[in-house]
Amino acid sequence: MTGFSPEWLALREPADGAARNGQILAACAQAFAGRDELSVCDLGAGTGASLRAFADRLPPRQRWTLVDHDQANLAAAGQRLTAWAERAEAGEKELVLSHGERRIVVERARRDLAIEPHCWPAGTNLVTASALFDLTSGGWIGRFVAALAADRLPLLATLTFDGEIVLDPPHRLDATIAGAFRAHQEGDKGFGPAAGGHATDILAVRLRNAGYAVTVGDSPWRLDPPMEGLRAAFLDGVAAAVAETGLLDSGAIAAWLAAGLAAQAIMIGHRDLFAMPGQSER
Ligand SMILES: C[S@@+](CC[C@H](N)C(=O)[O-])C[C@H]1O[C@@H](n2cnc3c(N)ncnc32)[C@H](O)[C@@H]1O
Repeated sequence: MTGFSPEWLALREPADGAARNGQILAACAQAFAGRDELSVCDLGAGTGASLRAFADRLPPRQRWTLVDHDQANLAAAGQRLTAWAERAEAGEKELVLSHGERRIVVERARRDLAIEPHCWPAGTNLVTASALFDLTSGGWIGRFVAALAADRLPLLATLTFDGEIVLDPPHRLDATIAGAFRAHQEGDKGFGPAAGGHATDILAVRLRNAGYAVTVGDSPWRLDPPMEGLRAAFLDGVAAAVAETGLLDSGAIAAWLAAGLAAQAIMIGHRDLFAMPGQSER
């Protein structure tokens, strides 16, 4: 399992579903209550997890544009969404899904967001992203918010890593490991030096400065034994990242890894954000 492979994204999807902040999702749903249709653009869409997570809260007729630079993820999105829907028709460019009362048209767009953050089609009403902003940089977030504000579009950004990793019961190396992991996360992930655990704060400040009303809430993962596969894969990923920094010796990393595998749970901090453009803009 490597990077953001479809296998890794499938492993994390149940934990993501349990973690997203209900109040933030409700605020987003409320903003579009009573509408019949909505056009959504999901950035860094992976295999379409945001669509599966949010569609039931949004208006009955939806159009989603899933943007990602990874062709394997976009291909897997077609398969995962077809399996999720009660009915799916594949057209030349679009997928039409029926899910409960929802009729959803899906288009997949292969783009490199690092080159151009303004990737939503004309007519978009809502921009979403899950587990993306911590990969981006402060400079990119600034350009993204400028483009979003120019189009006066709301944003739902969920599951942005906030830098916290703690074992339950706590381990004496938790803070050191989390610090080294944060240092690794702040390396370049294709967008310039990554915002990592600071991403939600940077995003919130930029959005407020652009006149947005911003709501933020916690959405931590709690990885306990029923999430054994994700837990083992996450711990391996943390250990490998920390080893690459050279900030801890291999004995210390191995000790923390063993404690993590035996722990009751691992808590990983994330934050969700919903932002509405202000009334007085333009
Ligand atoms: C952590 S995954 C999250 C995927 C999905 N949003 C989810 O919640 O399951 C990050 C996604 O961002 C995509 N991504 C990373 N860098 C990108 C870039 N420069 N342009 C477009 N997509 C990118 C990856 O391919 C991956 O699908």
